[in-house]
Amino acid sequence: MMRHQRSEVFSEGERGPRRGRLLASVWLLPAFLAACMQQPQPVVAGMPATPTSSGAAIYERACATCHDGGAIQAPRRDSLAALSRERILAAMTTGIMSTQASGLSPGEKETLATYLSVPQAPGGGMATYCAASPNRSFAPGKVFDWGMRPENWRAVGKDQTSIDAENASGLKLAWVFAFPGSTRSRVQPTIAGDVLFTADQFGTVYALDAATGCTRWTVQSDKEIRSPLIVGTNAAGEPDALYFGDIAGQVHAIDLATRRIVWTVRPDAHPQATITGAMRLHEGRLYVPISSLEVVAAMDGAYACCTFRGAVAALDVKTGANVWKTYTIAEESKVQGTNRAGANRFGPSGAPVWSTPTIDPKRGRLYIGTGENYSRPATATSDAIMALDLASGRIVWTFQATANDVWNAACPSGPNCPVNTGPDYDFGAAPILVELPDDRAIVLAGQKSGDVYGLDPDKGGAVLWKAKPGRGGIMGGVHWGMATDGKTLFVPISDLSVYPQDAHLPAQSGMHALDIATGGILWSTVLPDVCKDTKWRCSPGVSAAATFAPGVVFGGSLDGTLRAFSARGGEILWTFDTNRQFEAVNGISGSGGSIDSSGPVVAGKFVYATSGYDKFGQKGGNLLLAFNLAD
Ligand code: HEC
Repeated sequence: MMRHQRSEVFSEGERGPRRGRLLASVWLLPAFLAACMQQPQPVVAGMPATPTSSGAAIYERACATCHDGGAIQAPRRDSLAALSRERILAAMTTGIMSTQASGLSPGEKETLATYLSVPQAPGGGMATYCAASPNRSFAPGKVFDWGMRPENWRAVGKDQTSIDAENASGLKLAWVFAFPGSTRSRVQPTIAGDVLFTADQFGTVYALDAATGCTRWTVQSDKEIRSPLIVGTNAAGEPDALYFGDIAGQVHAIDLATRRIVWTVRPDAHPQATITGAMRLHEGRLYVPISSLEVVAAMDGAYACCTFRGAVAALDVKTGANVWKTYTIAEESKVQGTNRAGANRFGPSGAPVWSTPTIDPKRGRLYIGTGENYSRPATATSDAIMALDLASGRIVWTFQATANDVWNAACPSGPNCPVNTGPDYDFGAAPILVELPDDRAIVLAGQKSGDVYGLDPDKGGAVLWKAKPGRGGIMGGVHWGMATDGKTLFVPISDLSVYPQDAHLPAQSGMHALDIATGGILWSTVLPDVCKDTKWRCSPGVSAAATFAPGVVFGGSLDGTLRAFSARGGEILWTFDTNRQFEAVNGISGSGGSIDSSGPVVAGKFVYATSGYDKFGQKGGNLLLAFNLAD
């Protein structure tokens, strides 16, 4: 199901992102937007809006139920304030909050937007362009992407960085870039030679100078970008293309010579399909993990839940044409009855693919992790690690860690919450492949339950060992990504206390190291709680992905602290608090917050990290930070 688009919808921003004219389109996401919404109805019957209502009163009446903590996905009131008046207005008129605001008059929406937003300096946020613009040539060199290598080790070696256990304590802030107007920074940067590629919540793709953070150029697309950019290289190893997926499930290719979008496809036709995990480029094919926003759409009792099936698509990198596509659930959903609100109930559904596919060149396979089922009946492929044939997409084996896990955001009490609700124990972190001596190999998989598995890829995914470094919960356990040096597995644990299944156990928020051979825990560094008196959902949990450099593991906490741990013993070598204001190189002031999703990138002399994540009541922010060693 491909949909080619003409490229006029995109504009190249040579002089800066053209935000204004995008306002109307930025929030035109599909039906999920109308559906994100939980009862109760935004405007209480019998309380007709009066033009004289104050902003505070309208907020209390129409928004506070969800934004003061009632809806777990909703940003808190303080985070909304970081959006401009225009964006809040757009969210209510054409975007994500149209349903919620449908009972308000145009005047009330204006009043509310003014009340909620903090006035922003005119002209703020224009990019600061690099003085000299050597922008059309790229030095060949290692590309530092999400997994750092096809097996998703998230590790760099001595030949790729000068940072190690001996000198990590001397890391200093080199520069900060602030995404204008953003409330989250979740795209892990990709480094290619001396260029850093990243993207933001408003669909802007940035090419920054990796050493100074100045902007070389931007390209504007039309939807939020959450997954890291993928760099394509020519025969000489020079970057010649960029690929990225967006929240609306589209995949785009940018030709780096012309800096134009040359193709756009939407590999899954489901209206709620989205792209969250990094895609994987391997031998002329782009492997695309497909997840969905339907899990949130289910919050609306009138929504016929659920019909989405997780998938991986293999695309021809030159054209975007589909080579194969494999669903994690073989059969299409069908009507299974009605929900408590009378809407049709569909199933099976879910088993989304959140994470980056892992390539096994030797066995010709690709490994993925899946999430929970959204509706009944449950399938044997949810919360599973699956091995697919690289050439054909055929499923070779499936290891299911948690059976019968059926959950969606309507839980615990909405009409679409399934009976016998499951714990929502996705595999959100990419599987890791390590070749062992004697031609054997191991696939390492970390789950939101706090469990980690060592699987035998040559024996149908048989369990070699199982460990439980985390207590687990709906926000992990293991959430976004582990790292390895090939012998030790470094496991970041979130254990954020939102619906923990094992609340009687102590949280293990922090960094843990496991012996790959046995699964034995080598060390555990449980982090101190520095969250006293915060009004947002704060935790020392390491939900974001971890990254290994020689002798050192980097991990960022939901409380905004970035750390380097000794790989040998887990001692903390270096700490940096990102949760504050910074003057950014692009001429605006930016703020840090929770570190989530995206992990640090170690490349050459630099460590790059993001800060700010406004989902789930965590602390929003808009930073990309670069650290290096003092000369
Ligand atoms: C029924 C619950 C609910 C109500 C009522 C509600 N919201 Fe929301 N709102 C949400 C959720 C959930 C999200 C996050 C959706 C997502 O990003 O997945 C959200 C997101 C937003 C965003 C967008 C933030 C972003 O970064 O995308 C704005 C702005 C917003 N709400 C404003 C409002 C205003 C103003 C009102 C009152 C008129 C309101 N909301 C009422 C649940 C609600």
